Amino acid sequence: MTRILNLIVLILGMALAAACAPRNGTEQPADEIAEGFRDLNGNGAMDPYEDASLPIADRVDDILARMSREQKVRMVSGTGWSMEGVGAVGSKVPGAAGYTIELDNLGIPSIVLADGPAGLRIWPNREGDDKTYFATAFPIETLLASTWDLQLVESAGVAMGNEVKEYGVDILLAPGMNIHRDPRGGRNYEYYSEDPYLSGHMAAAMVNGVESVGVGATLKHYVANNQETNRLLVDTIVSERALREIYLRGFEIAVEEARPWAIMSAYNQVNGTPASQDRPLLTTVLRDEWGFDGLVMTDWFAAMDNTVAQMRAGNELLMPGTDPGSAQITQALETGELDESVLDRNIRYILGVVLQSPAFADYAYSDTPDLEGHSKTARKAAADGAVLLKNDDTTLPLPADVKTIAAFGNTSYDFISGGTGSGDVNEAYVVSLVQGLEARDFEIDEDLRGLYEAHIQAEKANRPPKENFWEFEPPLPEMIVSEKLVADKAAQVDIALVTIGRNSGEFHDRPLEGDFYLTAEEKTLIENVSEAFHAQGNKVVLILNIGNVVETVSWRDKVDAILLPWQGGQEAGNALVDVLTGDVNPSGKLPTTFSVKYADVPSSDNFPGVKTSDEVINILGILDANPSQVDYEEGIYVGYRYYDAFDVEPAYELGFGLSYTRFDYGPCQLSADSFADTMTASVTVANSGDVAGKEVVQLYLTAPEGEIDKPIRELKGFAKTRALAPGDEASCVFL
Ligand code: BGC
Repeated sequence: MTRILNLIVLILGMALAAACAPRNGTEQPADEIAEGFRDLNGNGAMDPYEDASLPIADRVDDILARMSREQKVRMVSGTGWSMEGVGAVGSKVPGAAGYTIELDNLGIPSIVLADGPAGLRIWPNREGDDKTYFATAFPIETLLASTWDLQLVESAGVAMGNEVKEYGVDILLAPGMNIHRDPRGGRNYEYYSEDPYLSGHMAAAMVNGVESVGVGATLKHYVANNQETNRLLVDTIVSERALREIYLRGFEIAVEEARPWAIMSAYNQVNGTPASQDRPLLTTVLRDEWGFDGLVMTDWFAAMDNTVAQMRAGNELLMPGTDPGSAQITQALETGELDESVLDRNIRYILGVVLQSPAFADYAYSDTPDLEGHSKTARKAAADGAVLLKNDDTTLPLPADVKTIAAFGNTSYDFISGGTGSGDVNEAYVVSLVQGLEARDFEIDEDLRGLYEAHIQAEKANRPPKENFWEFEPPLPEMIVSEKLVADKAAQVDIALVTIGRNSGEFHDRPLEGDFYLTAEEKTLIENVSEAFHAQGNKVVLILNIGNVVETVSWRDKVDAILLPWQGGQEAGNALVDVLTGDVNPSGKLPTTFSVKYADVPSSDNFPGVKTSDEVINILGILDANPSQVDYEEGIYVGYRYYDAFDVEPAYELGFGLSYTRFDYGPCQLSADSFADTMTASVTVANSGDVAGKEVVQLYLTAPEGEIDKPIRELKGFAKTRALAPGDEASCVFL
């Protein structure tokens, strides 16, 4: 591994990730506390819960004392789901994922919950209303993690939180923070990294940003939810050590650093118990050990077979809420199987959040968030997270004499901004690569553009219209471009850009052939374009518009440069061109290892697990699933921990990413020869190249040998420098 320090480090003048994160989350912002009293129940008297000067816990107790048993049963479930309306029962924010119930006799409003990790997901249009309700599509989380820049991620969170609040939503169902256990995981794009330290700090920065505007964020999906195959039924078999060190650790960091309003429990089982019914996980670990004081909700329709167990486990809110689920609770109360005090305890957490919400403060949301301002934040984040994987002979940035461009690959024209399912965003537009290039006065080859646009249109027309938002749309098949046409273009234009695109999302894990591995058409395209352009002395840049790892080794030698802009949200094309031209010097680093081949992935023998019964269970009339089991046999050896320890050469390791400049590291200075309570390590990083750039300093530690096996090194600190001018240096100190 290059540029890896076996020490802890932090950039001088920048606080450590953890140390600089403002704590927020449970305190109500001062500007939203209603002055004095509000007569919520209209009885003319000032009841304790209406007194904003009293502690929230006292007000919650007062509300509880006024609730009927029936109200209590209803309060622990959302308002329900309508398959006809395909959405939560409630009308305040069409397209929201759920609502809590209203206590109308007490004047306690319903609060609104909506997805998701790349921005707010609500319907952009409303019946009988000409106004549009678009939200900003931010870069996917994997891209945000590639920035290794906590301040930038926090600023994206502030922008997302603003949209949440201004559209009348109270809680964002994000960030997702499951571990990239396997590159086939369909929802990896909604998650940050294979490493819990990076994931945890990224999630904390996001939560701090979102919650700084006075709305809630939700860490999800707790825990060991790393695949979509049989997702509602799969039993994850995982050792306590791997759970603690890999799968829980990121959540632990985020809870400690950001004290989020909410956590969503996962669909899957963990060692035989559905995560949403698992008291040791939800109460012992989460509350007793980590001190979590927010609200735990289920994932939508998770493990409803035993809502009583969910209540007891400390899963306070059942989402989106179902009648059979509530009936189980009512019955259990009647038979004495469930004590009302359990409901009271759960409702305290729910009301604790409701009382801090914009809805409770009767916040006058505008329905006009600053979409223009946020698109700038999205563009900056997308450019800062782009990872330069290869750059032979300084192919990039594009030299000044490159004016004409041949753009190959469907997604050059039809960029994929993010994945599908609940992590999708209804944005107003997506800037494609060619649009980004044209905005900067490059000349796009018109013959190719005409052919590609016709091909894309025809392929799209062939597809049946999407019936539901969660339906997955695989990328369109690549067009066959004749060798003659490629050769003509190689003679006519200055450079070739070839984009390979991938989509993935909820409900589906990725197939290997044609997804993790490139299709035969894609490989032929790369081969033909490279041969023809090289024959003319022209270069080829390969762009990976992907949400998840793909195989690169079989084709990477053919092209001159490889840029990985991931799925960059609505401003993707502009951000990509910022990097191609050198206006932004790439400083992104991989948050996840790219293996040489799938068989090298440590979970490859155990993904997505095996059926444990032939019984096919239909879930909600939508999905067929088999009971199944997945064995996390690789234990703690996930991602780079495995490649390092077992000497398996990856294609590109975690933390890898090139720059248009060069950084030189000075020697690492330790504050002491041996460790006693604290130690600092410092290092100087100098820009010894010709252009300004930022560097990500990564700290990896090796544990002393003990009785149990340990990873060779683990990420324990990181910091991103400011943009250093050539010759400039930054001192980094890690505590
Ligand atoms: C997803 C969650 C999402 C929820 C509400 C579920 O299918 O797993 O991540 O927040 O739906 O849309």
